[in-house]
Amino acid sequence: MIKFIYKKIIKPILFKFPADDVHTYFLEKGNLLGRFNFTRKIAQKIFRYKNDILKQKVLEIKFKNPIGLAAGFDYDADLIGILPSVGFGYHTIGSITYSPYAGNPKPMLGRLPKSLSLLVNKGFKNNGIFYVLNKVSREKASIPLGISIGSTNQSYKKIEDMAEDVFLSFEVVLKSSHFDYYELNISCPNLINIENLKEKFDDPVGFSILLNKLSYLNIDKPLFIKMYAEKSVEETLALCEIASSYKWVSGVIMSNLVKDRSNVYFDKGEIKNAGKGNFSGKPTEALSNNLISEIYKKYKDRFIIIGCGGIFTGADAYEKIKRGSSLVQLITSMIYEGPSIIGEINKDLAKLIKKDGYKNISEAVGAYYK
Ligand SMILES: Cc1cc2nc3c(=O)[nH]c(=O)nc-3n(C[C@H](O)[C@H](O)[C@H](O)COP(=O)(O)O)c2cc1C
Repeated sequence: MIKFIYKKIIKPILFKFPADDVHTYFLEKGNLLGRFNFTRKIAQKIFRYKNDILKQKVLEIKFKNPIGLAAGFDYDADLIGILPSVGFGYHTIGSITYSPYAGNPKPMLGRLPKSLSLLVNKGFKNNGIFYVLNKVSREKASIPLGISIGSTNQSYKKIEDMAEDVFLSFEVVLKSSHFDYYELNISCPNLINIENLKEKFDDPVGFSILLNKLSYLNIDKPLFIKMYAEKSVEETLALCEIASSYKWVSGVIMSNLVKDRSNVYFDKGEIKNAGKGNFSGKPTEALSNNLISEIYKKYKDRFIIIGCGGIFTGADAYEKIKRGSSLVQLITSMIYEGPSIIGEINKDLAKLIKKDGYKNISEAVGAYYK
């Protein structure tokens, strides 16, 4: 019923307005609804699905279910109050950068409904690490809370300066006790001026420079690296091999947005008219799934994998889990299907796990390769 109302009434109205404005509207309203006990309780009644089969402990963090909000929706920590009631199992804030960035020229967001994809051209729009930490310190999260950190969107003379910027953010974040895990975003595809740099964070030399720099810190909570979707298996495994020697790297998130407009999952008319930016949703799914399998097969328990990209159903989430993901994340399906999608995915996932004879989700992780 709620899904019907969202898809038939609310969404057609929302989609008449620019996506940037709707996103801001949602954050404001979500923030407001999250402030009061009674609105949180109502949201819980409507949306949240609970089932013990979905509960698991990953890296000593307790998750009530495996569906997280991916980085890129709640940049400035507006939704800490409401997301648990909507049914999310965990919540990533960000990506945040050391210095604020107002965002790329608008439009920063666009819709490709036939392709079940969103166009993203934000370039790390956020209010900066100090603003976010101040905000987070005023609220207590009731589900695991993570923060995604990237480099400030500005020009750098050399990769060491870019690594220093990320280092500074982590240095500040490590002093806070509000986060259960960290994400290191090396794969934002729309930063200015990175093409001028000789090395980049996603090539082995630049990646090692970044990880060496962060090794000076005492990273005391699980850290996941958010990887590219469009690197080849060999390139991705080469980065994983480097990461595997840093014991504070607990896992990888597979994966970020895609750039390649010849991706077969795009509707041809939509992609022809799409503006500047990169894409989420269904066009990311197959790439992410393939990389999850390859990483899981090679690294098994060395990395916890968080699967991300194009999850619209319980079956989509289950596919990523059976390929080796312990947890999953999403954004795009929530925009197209409404917030009830979280409960629906959890419910269907629980059914699928049970149908396969598992007693708990953790038994299904990597099931294809056991
Ligand atoms: C509007 C938007 C903004 C995003 N911004 C970020 C970001 O700041 N950091 C990041 O790591 N990923 C970002 N992403 C990528 C998502 O976290 C995710 O990897 C991608 O959208 C695939 O998941 P989905 O298909 O469920 O949306 C963004 C995605 C969207 C749709």
